[in-house]
Amino acid sequence: MPVITTIEDLRQMAERRVPRVFYDYADSGSWTEQTYRANSSIFHQIRLRQLVAVNMQGRSTRTTMVGHDVAMPVALAPTGFTGMQHADGEILAAQAAEAFGVPFTLSTMSICSIEDVAMATTRPFWFQLYVMRDREFAASLIDRAKAAGCSALVLTLDLQLLGQRHKDLKNGLGVPPRLSVANMVNIAMKPRWCMGMLGTHRRTFRNIVGHAKGVDNLKTLSEWTAAQFDQALTWDDIDWIRDRWGGTFIIKGIMDPEDARRAADKGADAIIVSNHGGRQLDGALTPLEVLPQIVDAVGDRTEVHLDSGIRSGQDVLKAVAMGAKGTYIGRAFLYGLGAMGKAGVTKALEIIHKELDTTLGLVGRTDIHDLNMDNLIFPHQVPEPFGPAKWKKRARAK
Ligand code: GLV
Repeated sequence: MPVITTIEDLRQMAERRVPRVFYDYADSGSWTEQTYRANSSIFHQIRLRQLVAVNMQGRSTRTTMVGHDVAMPVALAPTGFTGMQHADGEILAAQAAEAFGVPFTLSTMSICSIEDVAMATTRPFWFQLYVMRDREFAASLIDRAKAAGCSALVLTLDLQLLGQRHKDLKNGLGVPPRLSVANMVNIAMKPRWCMGMLGTHRRTFRNIVGHAKGVDNLKTLSEWTAAQFDQALTWDDIDWIRDRWGGTFIIKGIMDPEDARRAADKGADAIIVSNHGGRQLDGALTPLEVLPQIVDAVGDRTEVHLDSGIRSGQDVLKAVAMGAKGTYIGRAFLYGLGAMGKAGVTKALEIIHKELDTTLGLVGRTDIHDLNMDNLIFPHQVPEPFGPAKWKKRARAK
């Protein structure tokens, strides 16, 4: 067994173990993937200020997200098809998150249902909602999440229409995937995955199939979302969703200060600054670039969380120092899940926690709440001769 020390180690393992059609679904973005790539690379443009000889004992990454105690400001993001990265994936990830002390968010597009996850966990998890054209069905999802004791509803607003995901179209992503010869050969080469799938009865979208009228299978993701997701949804619909839910309410997919203010006006307890992991509007800015403006726009009216591009504890630290009260990991935990099931999700959380804790000490802080922009160095602040002059020279040369 190789020694696993980074999320990248888990990614490589997942790539070997998960059928390509599902691995590609997780590990890709829309269209040219420029936003998908920028989401991670933007974190590397920010450097850290090293301060020494600070007593760094007794460090703490503990904080709260929408009033919930968390071991670190990291939740598991809602991700579709999670139970196709590994059999019973949502249950395993929820259990790993619960043991670690961070929130798990179940996607509407999950394989294990709300009820499956509730039966397999002891603490409340969060539920993410996509609003379907069939409003009665959307309302029934809210009621089921309430009945299962979910402690927050995360309403996603940036996927009324699916981003153009070329790999998924080419691979024939669906449940079951298109039975092309290439897919069948590839799946046959993943024996661990196949054994897992043979050992579970959870192999379809169990929140939906058998619950929504007339939905008994999913041809491809793109056809299905085009048919079911409500493109007519507007800010006016938020009130009935929030009122029907009646509990902690989070709005996901905010990338603009104006939308952030609207979400706060609608009573969101938190907003998630997110471009959906670069899977929706290719060409959008990265969440980190818009975070300071959004924090300014909403003040303390709502908590500001961030996802998209986080692959390390250093990334978490940078987002928090820039004003995010919490962050979410999607791919980082999916790689762990695909690599090693529940132990892999735990490993992903341990890796991120270790990096966060070490970096906290090395920037001279002991409490996560003490991080701020002073801990960061942006490209325009790098001292000469590597700093601004270098950038100006580059601009002149172009
Ligand atoms: C669903 O949330 C997706 O990004 O595919």
